[in-house]
Amino acid sequence: MIEFDLEKYLNHSRKVDLSEFDLASANLHPLTPAEVRCLEYMMDIELSTIGYLRSLLRTSIINDPEALGFLSCWAYEEYFHGRAIREFLKACGIGVHKDRCAQVRRNVTIRERLEEFGMAVMCSVTPHFNATLLTWGAVQEMTTLEGYAILAARTGNPILRPILLRLAKDERRHFAFYYNKARKTLEARRAQQLTTLLLKKFWTPVGSGVKHDPEVEWTMRFLFGGPEGPAAWHRIDATIARLPGLAWFDLFSQKMDSLVASKVTTGPHSADEAQRANRLAVPEAVSASCIPGSAGATPSHSPGQELLETSN
Ligand SMILES: [Fe+2]
Ligand SMILES: [Fe+2]
Repeated sequence: MIEFDLEKYLNHSRKVDLSEFDLASANLHPLTPAEVRCLEYMMDIELSTIGYLRSLLRTSIINDPEALGFLSCWAYEEYFHGRAIREFLKACGIGVHKDRCAQVRRNVTIRERLEEFGMAVMCSVTPHFNATLLTWGAVQEMTTLEGYAILAARTGNPILRPILLRLAKDERRHFAFYYNKARKTLEARRAQQLTTLLLKKFWTPVGSGVKHDPEVEWTMRFLFGGPEGPAAWHRIDATIARLPGLAWFDLFSQKMDSLVASKVTTGPHSADEAQRANRLAVPEAVSASCIPGSAGATPSHSPGQELLETSN
């Protein structure tokens, strides 16, 4: 049972305190180019939460007093997640342009803008749309939690590891809120039907919309395309499938199957892509081992499992 105590969350919500981490030593331990690229993605998505909050504020979800309290703290915590990653990158000597947030907002896709509009319209049409928003939030928060746990287990940078685990602890609480609210709202048959329809038609991985598809796909492959990935894919799907009416849910594994398969079969298409792939990609041997059914498809450990089971 995944528990969530809103009062406890509101009483304990706090920003990431960077003084807890030895940032002055961060640049003594090299990051791989792929880790830098992934961290930049994570930073941009965390710092874009405020934009998503704007979309949520146009929906009826804010009429729910529990959601109102949660979302206020949630957006605050997410901002400080992005800031923590930014300060870590800067401590490692990686430049972050002062206007990066504005640049990221300018580059959001048309789909993101349409979704913003669509969310407000859907809420005015049906009270059951909240179930979709909450389920969507649960999938994305769990993906983020698993992604941080995987990168924390994989990185050779001992300063980055505790930072990521600290962020993952917050993500676990965020996930627990969305998941428990989703469970209640999905009790209505109409909510189950609407959520099934919209997830099957429109669900995309976390960061999609803010980031363009090639970057989303690269990040998903980098985080979840290694030997520890399939356990996380299946954990995400199995957890969401326990929600009322969502026993069919397997979208994360489906997405990763297609991403891993396309990487293995097609490879880079241009000289530029090939150069970038050589520098940044998960090794082919690792990617191939993640295809369900192939050798190595069952990982020996699951970094996200322990975090998921921690109570809030
Ligand atoms: Fe976050
Ligand atoms: Fe979160």
